[in-house]
Amino acid sequence: MAVNLKVNGATRSVNAEADTPLLYVLRNDFELNGAKFGCGLAQCGACTVLIDGRAARSCVVTIDAVSGSEITTIEGLGTIENPHPLQRAFMEEQAAQCGYCINGMTMAAKEILDRNPKPTEQDVRQGLAANLCRCGTHGRIIRAVLRAAQLMGRT
Ligand code: FES
Ligand code: FES
Repeated sequence: MAVNLKVNGATRSVNAEADTPLLYVLRNDFELNGAKFGCGLAQCGACTVLIDGRAARSCVVTIDAVSGSEITTIEGLGTIENPHPLQRAFMEEQAAQCGYCINGMTMAAKEILDRNPKPTEQDVRQGLAANLCRCGTHGRIIRAVLRAAQLMGRT
């Protein structure tokens, strides 16, 4: 069946079963490879995207469930020429080792900052607690989110 999805401000159509995970369509059909397949079980957060502004695990969200929603992926945040403050802060803090978790972390952090522009370190820790990083980069990731909050406060 044809399903229309609103992704990063554009309406796109895909022929797929209604219960296809959103992550599969983003990556395999739309070539938006920022969201990663980690566990496929809503356990790690590597696949996090925003659905109507809320961080969601696209590996367990079916396309049928989000056909009327606004979906934002990491590709919709910023560009290489004009990165989003979160992306800039992650680079400035060198907040990545292998990088596999980082796009999901960034999208989860986007929701945190959208809800609370001046979070405490504890707020960020709690907000990202369910996003896993196998490389142990959490300290730098948390610093990056706090730096992004400062950057966004200045602009
Ligand atoms: S791949 Fe979706 S939460 Fe791990
Ligand atoms: S930087 Fe490797 S999993 Fe987080």
